[in-house]
Amino acid sequence: MTVKTMQTAEVKELLEKVAGFNKDGGDERMKKIVHRVMHDIFQIVEDFDVTPEEFWSAVYYVGELGANGEVALLAPGLGMDRYLDIRQDAEDEQAGLTGGTPRTIEGPLYVAGAPLSEGFDRMDDGSDTEAEVVLIKGQITDENGTPLADAIVDIWHADTKGAYSYFDQSQSEYNLRRRIKTDAEGRYAAQSIMPSGYGCPPEGSTQQLLNHLGRHGQRPAHIHYFVSKPGYKHLTTQINIAGDEYTFDDFAFATREELVVEAKRVEQTEDGARHGVTGPITEVEFNVALVATDKPELQERHARRRALEADVA
Ligand SMILES: [Fe+2]
Repeated sequence: MTVKTMQTAEVKELLEKVAGFNKDGGDERMKKIVHRVMHDIFQIVEDFDVTPEEFWSAVYYVGELGANGEVALLAPGLGMDRYLDIRQDAEDEQAGLTGGTPRTIEGPLYVAGAPLSEGFDRMDDGSDTEAEVVLIKGQITDENGTPLADAIVDIWHADTKGAYSYFDQSQSEYNLRRRIKTDAEGRYAAQSIMPSGYGCPPEGSTQQLLNHLGRHGQRPAHIHYFVSKPGYKHLTTQINIAGDEYTFDDFAFATREELVVEAKRVEQTEDGARHGVTGPITEVEFNVALVATDKPELQERHARRRALEADVA
């Protein structure tokens, strides 16, 4: 059956009523966007001859996705987070704000309010005695390489099973989450444990869709960062550890060439020694260059709903 109804007056009128065009009140932008969304869905149904069975299975899929709490997991898997970054990069270019360390996606697992330390802290609670001990370290500078003291480096990463504290209630509070203020030379350091990569829940809604696309739902081992300082553009980024099977095949499309970092095994750690950390240890070095801006709205992370952050509608 191939019928074409999209151009009929009946369907056009239906879409206009759906979007509230014939009603006063409501929000004009919302009306236009909903009109477009529904038009495009109708068009897909027509173009692909979507059957009622297919349509209703999609409706119930969306319901299950929400019930499983996986909407913010599917979004990066479908490239949405990456696409928003591509747009922000283009906006930066237009505004002459390019340069510095590249941004990449935040993901849905940030928790606000991690303990704040000066220069150094230990991020793990010591409960995983089998884990590979790492020293995460680096220097925050401006684009000319001038060190930035008092920048806040907000780091979060998964444990050796690929799970995050707060979302994994078996971990201690703020395990593997710290905010570190850079010292006079712009340096920060943190003792932690090597995170594992992780995958979408194998039986979950996200993986179910990925299976239909012939895709895996795996991420490489990575470490998330927010880096900020008044007078500079807020940076949301993450590093991917080199050598992971998925370093360049991340289901969430977060990997960027400049953000792949080698983990180096060292016998002695000069940076660690200053904080009482001895080798042998694995060092992960990530230096960040921030871009100056006088626009206050660019100096803070954009609003979105985040765990333990003041509620955002
Ligand atoms: Fe992550």
